[in-house]
Formats: sequence, structure tokens, C-alpha cells
Amino acid sequence: MRKYAIIGLGHVGAAVAFQLVLKGIADELILIDTNEGLARAEQLDLQDMQGRIDTRTIIKINDYSELADTDILFITAGNILAYKEKQAQGNRWAEFKYTKNIVQDIAPKVKASGFHGVAIDTMNPCDAITQYFQENTGLSRQQVFATGTFLDTARMQKVVSDQFDCDPKNVTGFVYGEHGESQFTAWSTVQVNGLPITELAKERNLNLADLEEAARRGGWEVYKGKGYTSWAISTCAVKLSQAVLSDARAACICSCYSEKYGTYVGQPAIIGKNGVEEVTVLPLTDEEEARFKHSADTIKEKFQAFDK
Ligand code: 2OP
Repeated sequence: MRKYAIIGLGHVGAAVAFQLVLKGIADELILIDTNEGLARAEQLDLQDMQGRIDTRTIIKINDYSELADTDILFITAGNILAYKEKQAQGNRWAEFKYTKNIVQDIAPKVKASGFHGVAIDTMNPCDAITQYFQENTGLSRQQVFATGTFLDTARMQKVVSDQFDCDPKNVTGFVYGEHGESQFTAWSTVQVNGLPITELAKERNLNLADLEEAARRGGWEVYKGKGYTSWAISTCAVKLSQAVLSDARAACICSCYSEKYGTYVGQPAIIGKNGVEEVTVLPLTDEEEARFKHSADTIKEKFQAFDK
């Protein structure tokens, strides 16, 4: 029985739920939200669609005890005020004072439920709030990770694929660091159709810094138009969950704990049934390693500053 749960049924949580049901990924789905009416409405709406798809998902609402045997828990809670402040300040750290309170509310309930599966966070500021959730639930650093720069890497893939008129999936490589302004693209890891982009960029006189900035700004372009993001972030979260449930031991970039830098940060890892099976240390250039350290230090400094 593939059992999933979602805490937070805003745009991201609802998009995750829709994908889990539409794709027949979840046999059982627990929807949790402080707004009981919303949880009920999403349950009904997702039940109503099942007469038109090939699979069936049992959907229950607002029962933390159901987490005891849940395999995957998505933490997608947010706060409309947080979104507005984030947009106004142009920085995901604006959400911290709201999402910290959410974690202080849900962490004890998750802990008391006996949940022992894998938790995947999409809340912001992603790296710090994921660490805050991990610390407050007492779940292991292996069991708790986040989409982090898995989403920014998808945006880099899109930006690069536009330049080369290819499928974004033909663009490999990673955006490291904070799911935020200090992130960077490790161009030494990026290939297009199997060819190193650093060589292709020379041939085409491409400014990689411009592409990196376009990827970093990608989320803000979407916020500007619709006030939130949902499709890409939810797809990233669901894809990571599938790597866990299938024990794929997939090589992904995600926000997970770095022993080296002492914080959750976007870095390559192997994702399997236990969550983060291991962190993958790639041979970055000296400049990339310095940017990775800077981004990790930025997360730590801001976490400490905001956590007063
Ligand atoms: C994004 O960049 C939600 O922070 C997330 O779309």
C-alpha cells in the first residue's frame, strides 16, 4: 500500500495531491489542512475525478494518526501573508516567521503520530525551514529533505534548452546552494546533449552568467504573473517521492544536510527508500566550491539571524 500524506492544501499541496491521484501514484492519500472545509472540498473534488481515471486512491482528511504508517509526507503548508511579504521583499526569507510557526504547530503532531517514513518539504525558506522541521520532529537527516535547487535546476534546464532548441531533459547538471538568491549553476557539471556547455558556450559566445541569472529569477517571473508557483515545484516534489518509494537510488539535486557545511543546502544526492541515501561529492572547480561554501554560509547566517 503506497501511502502518502500532505500537510498544507494551498496551491502547491493541491497540485501535489492532483498529480498523485491523476497518475495513480498513491493507493492512499491523507490530506491535512487547518482549514477543515478546504480539506473536505479537496477530498471530494479528488474523489469526483476517479470515475474518469484508471486507478483509485483512498482519500482521508485531517487525521494525524494516519501518519503512523505513511510512507511519504509532503510538507507544503504556506501562508498567504507570507506569500505577499515574499513577493514584496523579493526574498523567500520573508516567509520564515510564518513557516516557523507552522512547523512549531505541526512538528509535535507529526512526532506524536509515530511517523517513520520520508518527509519532503517545499516550504520556504526551503533549506532553513527543512532543517527546522527536521530538528523539531527529531526525524533523521536522512528521512527529511526538500526540493531545494531541484526546482532551480529544472529552471536552468529550461533556460539552457531554449538556447539550444532541445528538450530540457537533454540538459544535465546542477544548480547548487540555497533555494534562493545565493544559489549558483555549477557549469562544470552541465552538459547539453552530452556535450560540456563550457565548450559549447565558447563556440556560441554564450554568456553563462546571464543564463544562471535567468534560472535564479525564474520563480519570480511566475510569482509576478500568478502570485504563487505550483506546477513545477509540485512536480519536483512528486518526482523525488517516486525515487523514494521505488528505491530508485536516483542521482538528484535536492536540499539535504551537508556534514561539510553544517546546514541543509542544495547538493547532489542519491535518493532511495530511506530518503537521502548518500550525498554525492562532484569535482567542482575552485570557484564553484567557493560559491557553494558562500551559499551554505549564507543559509546558516540568515537562519541564525531570523531564528532569534
Ligand atoms: C519557487 O521558487 C516555491 O520557492 C518556490 O517556485
